[in-house]
Amino acid sequence: MAIDPFRLGWFGNLAAPEWKTPYSGYDSTKNYLNLRFYKDMVRNLERAGFDFLMIEDSLMVSDIYQGTAEIELKHARYAPKMDPVAAAAALLEVTEHMGVIATASTTFYHPYQLARQFATLNNLSGGRIGWNVVTSSEDRAAQNYGMDKLPEHDKRYDIASEFMDVVKKLWGSFSNDAILADAESGYYADFNQVNPIHHEGEYFKSRGPLNLPAGPNGRPAICQAGGSPRGRDFAAANADVILCIPSGIERAKEYRDDIRARAATFGRNPDDIKVFPVIYPIIGRTKAEAEAKNEEWYARKQHNFEVQMTHMAATMELDMSQFDPDQPIPEDISTNGHQSQLVEWRKQLDGKTIREGFSGMRVQTTEMVGTPDAIASQMEEFMEEVGGDGFLIYGQPISRESVAEMTDGVAPVLQKRGLLRTQYSHDTLVENLRSF
Ligand SMILES: Cc1cc2nc3c(=O)[nH]c(=O)nc-3n(C[C@H](O)[C@H](O)[C@H](O)COP(=O)(O)O)c2cc1C
Repeated sequence: MAIDPFRLGWFGNLAAPEWKTPYSGYDSTKNYLNLRFYKDMVRNLERAGFDFLMIEDSLMVSDIYQGTAEIELKHARYAPKMDPVAAAAALLEVTEHMGVIATASTTFYHPYQLARQFATLNNLSGGRIGWNVVTSSEDRAAQNYGMDKLPEHDKRYDIASEFMDVVKKLWGSFSNDAILADAESGYYADFNQVNPIHHEGEYFKSRGPLNLPAGPNGRPAICQAGGSPRGRDFAAANADVILCIPSGIERAKEYRDDIRARAATFGRNPDDIKVFPVIYPIIGRTKAEAEAKNEEWYARKQHNFEVQMTHMAATMELDMSQFDPDQPIPEDISTNGHQSQLVEWRKQLDGKTIREGFSGMRVQTTEMVGTPDAIASQMEEFMEEVGGDGFLIYGQPISRESVAEMTDGVAPVLQKRGLLRTQYSHDTLVENLRSF
């Protein structure tokens, strides 16, 4: 069966790229903090027809696991990490068509500041910035912003909903058409098209108007990755792009169908929302090389265990060292962090002990192993079942090699099969996302 082309995004962050392989010479030290690695990466992604680079973020050095930052900093998973909103300007500057989606938290920004920064990026990029709306999940981050701990999970979404409302009002408060630059009348901007919003809600107060227009489309693209029922509703109501980590085709289909149904209840056209399940491709020149790479990864048990422990600590503030590693994960623990991730984790562990389960777990997502040709076929089959819309490529840490495997290996195969764009039909991220 012929299927429609689909989209690709890359799930990145601005932490250290792979620093242990023989190919990591240039970027293995703090050199990457000058962004050269990531500038080269977005140029490659654009050449390959990607719709966007999504830059995840967190706002702390996690010292939850064993009560110290030792293992976190040993693996450099979450820190050091650059601010994606600031860095997006530089990445947009070296690209012409592709989008850059920067993560920013509704728990720590003020709506006015966020609306202004993203309006600035939307203008300077000609409409290619996206905002990944997150509510954050770490008390450690809250403590960096003067709070003792995060608001509770569903309350964070209440705050996020009002935040979104204020931001949208601010983006609408200074019309793009207000700029006349009319030398004859002597008016640069028309004050009738620039109006205060006078927002006074439960969590925010903002007078407005914003002091610049929002730029192309009147707003940036909105991205979200809610997994809980509350998060899914928020995403379905607001997002152009939705990211998810279901393992396997069935769960990806269930998630997409659910989001589309929720979107319809909010009066939205489900086709205006593009869902991107995360996949983790392991690519080799031959099947044997790809399989060997995969096995090599699973053989690094202690390394994998430590990395997963810091991941749990950072995203859920769960210190797994408090539990017996030779027992399954206890039934009665909960998190105020990413709730749906904990549910997924339990399913994936399937009764295994903490040590065994986590030392053999790469990431909660769909793995694909093979040559570029075989990966393209697996993507095609996946998409045929799920029905759309795109994939978010994951591969942490990122290396020049892993980027090239996708951009110079898999992407050209997809393009030859008519499954991936070879050019951008529009100027802005929102329009390109909706173009098919
Ligand atoms: C692909 C993907 C990327 C995400 N990126 C971030 C991020 O950069 N920062 C963050 O705080 N949360 C991030 N999250 C977490 C989500 O925003 C969300 O909190 C999580 O999926 C759990 O859903 P829930 O909030 O509905 O419980 C990400 C989730 C996914 C699936």
